[in-house]
Amino acid sequence: MEKIFINGGARLYGDIRIDGMKNAALPIIFASILTGDKCVIENLPPVKDVSTALDILRSMGASVRMLNKTTAEIDTAHVAAGISPYDLVNRMRASTYLIGAELGRFGWAKVGMPGGCDFGVRPIDQHIKGFEALGAEIFIENGYINARCPSRLTGSSIYFDISSVGATCNIMIAASVAEGTTVIDNAAREPHIVDLANFLNTCGADITGAGTNMIKIRGVKKLHGCEYAIIPDMIEAGTYMAAVASAGGRLNIRNIIPKHIESISAKFLEMGVSITEYDDYITVSSNGRLNRVNIKTLPYPGFPTDMQPQVAALLCTAEGISTITEGVCDNRFRYLEDLRRMGANVSADGRTATIIGVERLSGAPVRSVDLRAGAAMIIAGLAASGTTIIEGIESTLDRGYYDIVGKLRQVGADIKRVQVSDTDAIRMVN
Ligand code: EPZ
Repeated sequence: MEKIFINGGARLYGDIRIDGMKNAALPIIFASILTGDKCVIENLPPVKDVSTALDILRSMGASVRMLNKTTAEIDTAHVAAGISPYDLVNRMRASTYLIGAELGRFGWAKVGMPGGCDFGVRPIDQHIKGFEALGAEIFIENGYINARCPSRLTGSSIYFDISSVGATCNIMIAASVAEGTTVIDNAAREPHIVDLANFLNTCGADITGAGTNMIKIRGVKKLHGCEYAIIPDMIEAGTYMAAVASAGGRLNIRNIIPKHIESISAKFLEMGVSITEYDDYITVSSNGRLNRVNIKTLPYPGFPTDMQPQVAALLCTAEGISTITEGVCDNRFRYLEDLRRMGANVSADGRTATIIGVERLSGAPVRSVDLRAGAAMIIAGLAASGTTIIEGIESTLDRGYYDIVGKLRQVGADIKRVQVSDTDAIRMVN
């Protein structure tokens, strides 16, 4: 088992380069199944979820060749439906995109029920509503989601009760090769929705309106392979903004699209963090003392739910009382218990957390209960007095952050990753 050890108090100075966006890479990797051709995808983040997605494709008959650490050549000519391994599919919720891809290409799909971060109920009723509107029959049996459409999928008008990122991606994938036109109303507007639409259009699809709440998809008969580069990860960028806001110092956060992080920047400015914006990077500086704020997470362009744990960790030592209302996920406050171990004065009542700022947190052994909670523990540990030890990182943090320990150590953090055997003997890993 590996753990992260952080001795708090070091300020951060230097440059951080942001990787490609995990949540854009995953739908694009699965959508490549539609082409039955060769796609070269660049700027893939070298994280576990991407490796899992590529392994799922390999197990379905795709040939996947890594041209370098961040570029994959994927040939899906010999992919078959219905054979994705249950244990791999179960590792992440993004596996649901296999349904849209298999249904679009083969007219049927059989995919294990999705897994992924455990924060509350994460149904897929909007996905099912969309597939049924396109003419598919869906039934769940023995832990598998089965879908079939005897003839070709037929374009339709679909209204989402929730602006679901996953359902918007899934229906865009399936509808891109349906007979006729599909209109998705109340669609999600995240940058990774636009990235998926751009990828599909580069493969010959005809999608307009992505990034707005009304997306029109004119079905085409066939898609072809392409070369495509994934957008930078706005949540990774926001995470390093939170790191320097917590520890103090000054970071240049490079290879980003500033427009994608507008709502994050606005809140950090309100907290008293200094931000200077350039074409493809920002400079973020802080003395570590922050103003209290109120935050409500919302679908894009609102403040992203995937930044909620990170900003909560920050506000634990802000001046005054802050609140965070979780407007997207059901129950995303499990990590508060670990912040309390560090001396935070935090509590949650339903979807609202109240955070009463304290002078300083103290290092403690904590868990990474999910991907973004792990990042939150690092952010808290960077400023805490003493040592913070984080466990559970391989099955959470590593899913979505590439070398977060190395990137932070390069800019001055006193952080390391160690292998801890059952006898608690430790060996430095990096
Ligand atoms: C994506 O999850 C992201 N994952 C999540 O990021 C992110 O938190 C979420 O979007 C919101 O931005 C990936 O892209 C792989 P949703 P997804 O469908 O697609 C409810 C991370 O940390 N809902 O917009 O599951 C659902 O329960 C991960 O990188 C339904 O009720 O998000 C949830 O409460 C964690 N019925 C809310 O909507 C549905 O059919 C948002 O879900 C679908 C969703």
